[in-house]
This record gives sequence, structure tokens and C-alpha cells, in this order.
Amino acid sequence: MTIDTPQLCLDLPTMERNVERLAAFARENDLTFRPHVKTHKSKRIARMQVDAGAVGVTVATLDEAVVMIEAGVPSVMIAYPVTKAVKIERLKALTKRAHVIVSVDTTVGADLLSEAFSDAPIEVWMKVNSGLNRCGVEPGDEAVELARYITDLPGLQLTGIYTHAGHAYGAASDEERQTIAQAEADSVVRSAAKCEAAGIAIKHRSVGTTPTVFEAGRYDGVTDIRPGNAMFYDMVQVGLGVVDVSDCAVTVKTTVVSKQHGRLVIDAGSKALSLEKGAHGHASVVGFGRVVGYPELIIDKVSEEHGVIPIKANCPLEINDTIDVIPNHACVTVNLFDHYAVSNGEWWPVDARGGSK
Ligand SMILES: Cc1ncc(COP(=O)(O)O)c(C=O)c1O
Repeated sequence: MTIDTPQLCLDLPTMERNVERLAAFARENDLTFRPHVKTHKSKRIARMQVDAGAVGVTVATLDEAVVMIEAGVPSVMIAYPVTKAVKIERLKALTKRAHVIVSVDTTVGADLLSEAFSDAPIEVWMKVNSGLNRCGVEPGDEAVELARYITDLPGLQLTGIYTHAGHAYGAASDEERQTIAQAEADSVVRSAAKCEAAGIAIKHRSVGTTPTVFEAGRYDGVTDIRPGNAMFYDMVQVGLGVVDVSDCAVTVKTTVVSKQHGRLVIDAGSKALSLEKGAHGHASVVGFGRVVGYPELIIDKVSEEHGVIPIKANCPLEINDTIDVIPNHACVTVNLFDHYAVSNGEWWPVDARGGSK
């Protein structure tokens, strides 16, 4: 396998171990497992997740949903509000091809879907806010109000409540991360209990961003988990103390192209490593990724095609040496490449790359 650089590389045994860890956790805790595929955007990896026990996948976009339906996954949860007419038309077409669930978090969104699906109802999950302050109604009474509104409309079948605690990425300590995990699970379970007390059955109660999934998934009353990044992990997760560098399954292979005046230049810049330092606030990352085997080297600066690493006089790396970099945020890095160079010698496409519609 000849690898030109910069190239996204996937270590298969590490990813398989990560997938199995999640699948085993789901089995042991009697949870359904619905991994978010925005991380890998790959049909092949989605099928591996389904083979490991996933009941379906979670997506952020209709483009990802199309690719996952082509891959033959049994169920697709669209964890994003679908409100625009052109998108609702696409969604209608998808429901004719596969089992699709869609998110609702406003009465306006519910009305728009209800109108479009009055002849053939669609399954919806209501999103509650557990502190990220992005989409989602407030848990508790507000959730019951929206649930009532949804169940009174034609065309919508409310079967689940979910949340995304992305603010766990901003946790400044392990204690804070665990507190967020508890609050995340509580927001869903409490809202579901209140809905059920009001006569609205809620079958699915879904949680699980990668930093919280192993705590929130154990909470009594939770039935479903949707981690994404946990298939690959990255330096943000290492910085949070969630995993060790040995758990990170993707790297960017890059070549030293210049060495002079106390610096190395590599052929991986922002278009290979991204500019990510962590999406939701504080993250303990240093530079633009970790150089495997050379923890003392910091990728200090990136422009589009260049990465700059300050070095000492004894740095052994020379022009045309290659190094592997664990990205700060694997999900964003993957989306910058067409293919994975897989450790078994195969090339796997990033099938839903760039699909943000
Ligand atoms: C709604 C939803 N569910 C699940 C996830 C997965 O989160 P993570 O990649 O941290 O596991 C995300 C990530 O953006 C999300 O937005």
C-alpha cells in the first residue's frame, strides 16, 4: 500500500476494540445502541457497528441519512430539526425506503412535519436541553407541553425523548464531567416520567455523548445511547481524561518537507488536521494534534497546507521522514479526506464526506 501524504489512516484493531467496548456496554446495561455516524461517515464502518449490535445509526444531516440507507442500516435517527420544505420533501422520500426517526424540538417544527406527514405518519423523538443550550425544550413541564402538542397532531408518532450533552466537552474536571452525565440522563428520564404521568408513553430515552456515555448510560430509566466519537477517539478525549492515546484509532500521516532555523514543516495544515481545539469550550489540547512517538514535538502553527513544529538541535527527523498525528477532533478531520488508508491494506471511502445538507 503506497501512501502519499497527508493521508487519513485508520487502525482497524483499535477501532474494532472501541466498537466492541460500546456494544458490550450496551448489552450489559440492556440499552439499544445507535451510534452517531457523523464521526466516520462510512458505510463500511456503519455496517460493522450494526454487526456488533447497533439497532441503527444516528445522523446529523439528510445527506448522511441517504448514505446510511444505501448502506442498508436498519434504522436512521435524524438528530437534527428538519424544517425547510425542500428538506421535508427529501425526508418523505427517505421514509419510503427505510425506518426513519426525526427530531422535533419546537411547535413550529412539529406543525411543519405534521402537515407533510398527515397521510403516512413519521416517528419523532423530542429533544430536551440538558445544558448545551443549543436545540431542545427545557426538561420537565416544557417537555410535557411539547409532547402533548405533538401527540395531538396528525402525522407524528412520538416514541422517544433524547438529549445531547455536548457541553461535557467543556468540563474542567472529571467531577464536572460526571455531574453533567448525571444531569444529562436525568433531563431525559425526568421528562419521560412526567410525560408518562400525563398519559403519554415514551418508549425510548436516549443519551450519550462520548465523554458521558459510560456514566449516563447506566442511569436508571435510560434505554438508548448514541455516541459518535467513541469509535475513534482523539486528543480532545485524551485531554478530558476519557481515554488514553492508545485508544485513538485515526491518525493523519504527514511528511517533513522542510527543516531549518529550529523548525520542521510538515505537509499537514488546517486542510488535513483542521483548526479544532475542541468544539464546546475548554479542552486540554496542545497544538494541532499529537505527534505519535514524539510527545515533545508540538504542532504550533498551521496554515492551509503547512504545519510548523519548533524543534531543538537534536531533533532526529529529516526531510521526507513521515510522522503520524492524532488529530484533536477526529470527526472534523475525517470529513477533510476522501478515503481511509486502513491498517489491513484496504482503502475505504469516506462515503458521506462533506455532506452537510
Ligand atoms: C444529537 C447528537 N447525538 C450524539 C452525538 C455524538 O456525540 P459524540 O461524538 O460526542 O459521541 C452528537 C454529536 O454532535 C449529537 O449532536
